[in-house]
Amino acid sequence: MRHRKNASLIAGAAAATLLLAACGGGDGDGDSSANGGGGGGEGRTMRLALNQTEEHPSYIALDNFGTYLEENTDGWSIDVFPNETLGAQAEALQLVSDGSVDLAIVSGTQLENLNEDFVVFNLPKVFDDVDHQMSVIHDPEITGDLYASLEDSNNITVLGGFTQGARSIYTTFGPVETPEDLAGKKIRVQESDLHIAMAEALGGAGTPMAYGELYTGLQGGVVDAAENNEVSYFTQRHYEVAPYWSYTNHLVGLDYLIINTELLNSMSDEDRAAFEAGWQAAYEEHTQLWEEATQEAIEGAQAGGATFTEVDEAAFAEPLEALAAEFITTETQQQLYDAARAAAN
Ligand code: GCU
Repeated sequence: MRHRKNASLIAGAAAATLLLAACGGGDGDGDSSANGGGGGGEGRTMRLALNQTEEHPSYIALDNFGTYLEENTDGWSIDVFPNETLGAQAEALQLVSDGSVDLAIVSGTQLENLNEDFVVFNLPKVFDDVDHQMSVIHDPEITGDLYASLEDSNNITVLGGFTQGARSIYTTFGPVETPEDLAGKKIRVQESDLHIAMAEALGGAGTPMAYGELYTGLQGGVVDAAENNEVSYFTQRHYEVAPYWSYTNHLVGLDYLIINTELLNSMSDEDRAAFEAGWQAAYEEHTQLWEEATQEAIEGAQAGGATFTEVDEAAFAEPLEALAAEFITTETQQQLYDAARAAAN
């Protein structure tokens, strides 16, 4: 198994990465120099930061992406570090920006904090379902400028994304049927102003928290509820401490694959083309794996004592839909929103 690492190796890599970041960058290998694109640099193994387990479809698809690169490029490969071993997403974003980590999967909420245009794709109800979402986020006509927008400012290129599927509420205290059931309850959300407002729209109060802290947050009562997809609910074992899942289906969430721009530009044209083909195969595989993983997650969580309840979705709809008017404040955002909605069936 290429990517099995022992704990001390992982700890060492994480410490080295953080040390490099503290010293102001460098990728540790000295071969991701800025050469303005179409570089002829020989490849190397890139480090990718992920906050999911090795059972998660994102890990599986990215690991296979690494194998594809090994077979189709001049020396490029990917080492996927799961479980936040290279840092939580907010740190991973910074490490990719300064080049101490090469690639990361980060939620759209993280990019919203660098460029507010990304907020559009983090809105509840902007995507109807996974297929709609994938067709929008991999359409260069819609996303080209957005995905290049962090290159000059942050040295980060967005390559596209993986779905997070439909997200719903789960609680420590019992099923939720209407927003009133969440009154006075603390709902963990991702680090995003929009998602804090979304928690309020759902009837509760938003508490931003890193993903990796959430199990103990639920267990210790720091928060009463959270919202995610079934795959995360199961693979993070949150069902053990918050066994009441309620199908609010309030948001089809989105993860992005980001890469250090200088590193991307250092690839030869042939390797860059193979990289793009391999990435497309990876996100297509991820979408295929998603449905089955969701079904397995539901069954696994149920076997562990979780209950899944339908809610009155209509009771939640109006405040959630109102968020678009509140958070879309610029023309660029409006254009992105309109393009996304126009692509819906
Ligand atoms: C999903 C998503 C992650 C995100 C997490 C969260 O699991 O795939 O990228 O970090 O939700 O709620 O923080």
